[in-house]
Amino acid sequence: MFTTISPSVHYFGSLVALLTTSNPNGTTNITPISSAWSLGDHYVLGLSSHHQGYRNLIRTGEVVLNLPEECMAPAIERISMTTGSEPVPAAKGSSYRTEHDKWAVAGWDPLPGLRTAPQRIVQCPVHIEATLDNSWSLEADLHAVHVRVRHVHVRDDLVLDSSHVDVRTWRPMFYTFRHYFGKGGHLGQNARAEQQLVGRTGNQADCPLEAPAGRGG
Ligand SMILES: Cc1cc2nc3c(=O)[nH]c(=O)nc-3n(C[C@H](O)[C@H](O)[C@H](O)COP(=O)(O)O)c2cc1C
Repeated sequence: MFTTISPSVHYFGSLVALLTTSNPNGTTNITPISSAWSLGDHYVLGLSSHHQGYRNLIRTGEVVLNLPEECMAPAIERISMTTGSEPVPAAKGSSYRTEHDKWAVAGWDPLPGLRTAPQRIVQCPVHIEATLDNSWSLEADLHAVHVRVRHVHVRDDLVLDSSHVDVRTWRPMFYTFRHYFGKGGHLGQNARAEQQLVGRTGNQADCPLEAPAGRGG
């Protein structure tokens, strides 16, 4: 049986990224997002135009996607109700406050970009420097922003070789209905996977509507 519902949001689960962008005064702002997906060297970011991060990205054409790992959830939450904008845009409501130094609040350290101006977050093991290609308005203040990957920096312990991230040690963070989750156990691999994981490395759950092999039905 299924029940028709109207979810208040559609955040079934996606990667958390911390966008760093350059403010007009040259400092770097941090914007947590979960609406980021990639195809080839392209990333599409879902952003509200009320965000300082969106304004900076459209103005400068540059952004770094800093990908956090599981242990960073508490620090992300410390900056989640802050904005780099002053005053706080009316549309964001009274629960947000202006914060010009999200770095200090989160407890993170900056590292210069190689090709782009925004600083990278040392505590994130992956930094993707990207430049603006295009932006579309989805509705009044919601935009799909298309950026192109220019440089990818990966912490040494996650590097398998010059073109692969080690899927065993990389621990991304996912946002599911405004809750933070880690990647859980290994469930299997795609036919095109380039790394072979030997043996079973996590919980392999049976799907409830699928008859387990050998039990007929
Ligand atoms: C984990 C997380 C995910 C978020 N995902 C998005 C998102 O995908 N798109 C978006 O526009 N805002 C998202 N937000 C909200 C912004 O981060 C938030 O409004 C913040 O104040 C923007 O900061 P800024 O105005 O300094 O750019 C998310 C917030 C958190 C904590």
